[in-house]
Amino acid sequence: MKVLVIHGPNLNLLGSREPETYGSATLDDINRMLREEASRLGIELSTVQSNSEGALVEAIQAASGWADVIIINPAAYTHTSVALRDAISAVGIPTIEVHLSNIHAREEFRHKSHIAPVAIGQIAGFGADSYRLALIAAKNVTRA
Ligand code: DQA
Repeated sequence: MKVLVIHGPNLNLLGSREPETYGSATLDDINRMLREEASRLGIELSTVQSNSEGALVEAIQAASGWADVIIINPAAYTHTSVALRDAISAVGIPTIEVHLSNIHAREEFRHKSHIAPVAIGQIAGFGADSYRLALIAAKNVTRA
């Protein structure tokens, strides 16, 4: 099984960015943990981060024909991006939405996700473990 993990804008700053909200792990720490977990689960893993909405759309399109499952933390684009939502719909790859923080317990503008209606499910609020839980969930996902 092949899983693409996509990290959205500002997640390259993890570790120093609002650690009280997002924790102290850096993106490298999270990707390292994911690689370890993936090899334990027998999953082939690829990771990508971009601050650019267009590059994220291209990463989703490029996953077509490779990834069995996409795990995405769309970060701020969660709340704004019809383009990311349409890309996920278009490729038809089962997608799990992930957030470090519990977006539903934060500011009102974070409660709305454009991605959730096209995702299999959403995991939010467990810090770096949100990604680990998503990988475990991905293992049991089969394409409809
Ligand atoms: C986030 C939550 C978003 O609201 C925010 O814009 C982020 C990170 C999270 O992982 O908790 O950048 O996706």
